Amino acid sequence: MKSGIPKGERVVVAVDGPAGAGKGAVCRAAAWHFGLAYLETGALYRAVGLIAARAGLTDPAELARAAAAMPFAYRPLGEGRHGAFLGEEEVSLALRAEAVGQAASRVAALPEVRQALLGFQRRYGAGLNLILDGRDVGSVVWPDADLKIFLTASLEERARRRALELQARGEAVNLAELIASMAERDARDAGRVHAPMEPAFGAVVVDTTAMSMEESCAAVIARIAPVLGRS
Ligand code: DC
Repeated sequence: MKSGIPKGERVVVAVDGPAGAGKGAVCRAAAWHFGLAYLETGALYRAVGLIAARAGLTDPAELARAAAAMPFAYRPLGEGRHGAFLGEEEVSLALRAEAVGQAASRVAALPEVRQALLGFQRRYGAGLNLILDGRDVGSVVWPDADLKIFLTASLEERARRRALELQARGEAVNLAELIASMAERDARDAGRVHAPMEPAFGAVVVDTTAMSMEESCAAVIARIAPVLGRS
């Protein structure tokens, strides 16, 4: 299957999987290691979720229009760091909130919204070797990716990691509530009709439940190296 936009000679690595499996950390590590462009596609859905929550939007057509028109961009913050922006507002931290993840998962079930975000994902990093993470990157966005990885871990372990992340930001965490919230989001993302979360055809499944973050990064980097012709 082809995505509709020519991939050309560049290498595309698609990483999908549930929240808390470590997708962001391993993709950032691999992008840095190999000099790849990186797109966290969840940030786009989170941005639409944030806009929806702020403006009280629920109508699919209105949400799709907002998604197509949103001024989303990654901009340099200095010292090699980048931030997610909606227009002039830096929203990196706002996008990480658990409630915004839930809002993102709800708008992501709408085919109109998914369609509106497809072009941005396919045009991103044009001409550059690219790694993307999300839920349907290997199945829908780049079905002709050179390497597809489905990164996963047990629900309990993923919730434990997310709890540490939230605590590090000074947020109060109730682990039982977090497990319930993540289970609800998994069920919605995997159970939806359009582009459900599932290992893409040909994807390598990497289970990080028993791995440290360093081991997870090393496992993924080892899979990417031969695809790029590196050792
Ligand atoms: O990866 P994340 O947790 O930041 O994603 C937030 C939500 O966005 C997720 O629950 C489902 C949705 N999403 C999606 O449907 N497809 C993607 N490619 C990425 C995210």
